[in-house]
Amino acid sequence: MLIRSPSDILPSEITPRAVYLNRREIMAGAAGLALGAGLPGAASAAPLQAAKSAFSTDEKVTSREDVTTYNNYYEYGVDKSSPAKTAHTLKTVPWTVKVDGLVGKPAEYALDDLIKGSALEERIYRMRCVEGWSMVIPWVGFPLADLIKKVEPQGSAKYVAFETAYRPKEMPGLQSAFPVLDWPYVEGLRLDEAMNPLAILAVGLYGETLPNQNGAPIRLVVPWKYGFKGIKSISRISFVEKEPPTSWNRQAADEYGFYANVNPQVDHPRWTQATERRIGEGGLFVKRRPTLMFNGYGDQVAQLYAGMDLKKFY
Ligand code: MTE
Repeated sequence: MLIRSPSDILPSEITPRAVYLNRREIMAGAAGLALGAGLPGAASAAPLQAAKSAFSTDEKVTSREDVTTYNNYYEYGVDKSSPAKTAHTLKTVPWTVKVDGLVGKPAEYALDDLIKGSALEERIYRMRCVEGWSMVIPWVGFPLADLIKKVEPQGSAKYVAFETAYRPKEMPGLQSAFPVLDWPYVEGLRLDEAMNPLAILAVGLYGETLPNQNGAPIRLVVPWKYGFKGIKSISRISFVEKEPPTSWNRQAADEYGFYANVNPQVDHPRWTQATERRIGEGGLFVKRRPTLMFNGYGDQVAQLYAGMDLKKFY
């Protein structure tokens, strides 16, 4: 993000498959005892039952290896390969999410209680990172709107604010004397954006519980926005009246806006947003793809921004 421009990212940063497979074997052995539950939050990958959603794209899905080893999760370092190596230190069982603010049912909810009553769906979404690369990811999750209805926001609530767990002992990136971001990582959506059926809370990937590097046990997925809106390992959801701060906007307001809608017409100050590199598509010299307005999800979301100047509200 701030640290590197897209052209600095080398293919060698992607963990070789052998290293990755070895890590999985080690993890499976070490965490074998926790496997049984089959619920989001289990300490190792467990299968999840999910019907494929009609919102899914039929584009070619990015390989599991790329999705789980080419990550941004700065609590685990700024290199793309770091989270896959170090995020296993996060203890995702048990997990609670504090719901507070302008809401009828505030509480510290156990993860299972937040999911209860929602059918898990597979949502194969195009995902576009602000750095200029994209992937197609088979998430497993449930509509964010389900959770919002469950906790009964008050009429005065206009925004939803999200916070990632703050656990320096389990997150090496938080121990640095020169923090990259003002921790904890925070993000937000307008309430009507959050209620849009495309917005989901993901608890899985590739038919299994989320790997830690992808934001276990629960993370936000908003496919019409740049990837940094997809806050990982959520521990708090607050309903508020005013636009909440967001981590990247705090860090560089002229580069990262609150809205962060994928928009090929509004360049990042340091690089174009008109095109993108699809991860896994034949190396550095393959032709870049044109980036689509709202990442191709305009039919579902364009009405949320009717009348807004999207150059101003970037
Ligand atoms: N959430 C937290 N807590 N910390 C982060 O550094 N990075 C964001 C987002 N969520 C980030 C985060 C960015 S920049 C991107 S592109 C996506 O996570 C990457 O998600 P993925 O690694 O699952 O593809």
